[in-house]
Amino acid sequence: MDLKTIEWKANAIKIIDQTKLPRKLEYIYIRDLKSLWQAIKELKVRGAPALGVAAGLGVYLGIKDLRVKDFARFLQQLERIIKYLASCRPTARNLFWGLEKMRQAALKNKNKPVSSIKRIIFTEAQKIIEEDRSACRHIGYYGAKLIKGKDAILTICNAGALATIDYGTALGVIYRAREEGKNIKVFACETRPLLQGARLTTWELKRKGVDVTLICDSMAAALMQQGKISKVIAGADRIALNGDTANKIGTYNLAVLSKYHQIPFYIAAPLSTFDFSIESGKDIPIEERDKKEVTGLFFKRPIAPAGIKVFNPAFDVTPHRLISAIITDKGIIRPHYKLNIKKILDI
Ligand code: MRU
Repeated sequence: MDLKTIEWKANAIKIIDQTKLPRKLEYIYIRDLKSLWQAIKELKVRGAPALGVAAGLGVYLGIKDLRVKDFARFLQQLERIIKYLASCRPTARNLFWGLEKMRQAALKNKNKPVSSIKRIIFTEAQKIIEEDRSACRHIGYYGAKLIKGKDAILTICNAGALATIDYGTALGVIYRAREEGKNIKVFACETRPLLQGARLTTWELKRKGVDVTLICDSMAAALMQQGKISKVIAGADRIALNGDTANKIGTYNLAVLSKYHQIPFYIAAPLSTFDFSIESGKDIPIEERDKKEVTGLFFKRPIAPAGIKVFNPAFDVTPHRLISAIITDKGIIRPHYKLNIKKILDI
């Protein structure tokens, strides 16, 4: 793919500023931790796998100019940086997975000089990038086996190139199916309140020549009732050991609707999105965001009365019973999830 969502370039983290899309494809260079924290918070860079990469590169950004020479003091600074980056968004597992990888890289090499550890951390962050590129392509390979020639696929949020390095998870399945010559259609939910579907998914699919139609979130049921949707594929921010899956708010709605209309509902995600420390979705922390996102963000004037109470959870949890299969980079996982997640992911 020609898009690179996030990379290390010119001694900085280079990202596509996703808040500018679809109007403008603009790249920005992030040179300090505070700007990275802010960019993640404001969703300039977003999507669980891309946040895993941001974690890796972010740790390197934080440590690269440290002057400390002994490991104990280096570790102290490293822990401070990890804690800071961990505080920006709570739901996507990949962020914490990426941070933990950096911590382990340092701990495993504690007997080496700090300068070498810095280089090892950089290499480790680059590895996350390569792993993501490969994982998305494997997800695409396995997922495309589930797609038929004339499928009409509904998706939500953006689980594409913009949420990963350059290919996508849910959209990776769509790209691969197209590469295999399948003539599929996509319906994209706009994804209120931040409109990742309207702004990002339609933009990247249209660019790639995929037949995509934008719908308001509330239209999904009617489309299913009219027989216009044959499959639903969504990404994931965190998956528990029993298969319960947190993803963008509104994903659960689609899963319930799919069950009623007997439409297969798939989740696509890499290994790094699984949280092996939690048994069920009850333990997934759900981010709550500013009420301004609901009352006015993308409108010229506020659309709700001043001072109105707002509830703005960014994610919901889809119970595993509603998920037909989870498409991973290691293969397709079907129920019984508690047994099969461990078996297929080999944990
Ligand atoms: O708030 P966002 O835009 O970071 O939410 C992203 C999603 O919910 C995606 O569907 C998920 O991270 C999977 S991305 C491959």
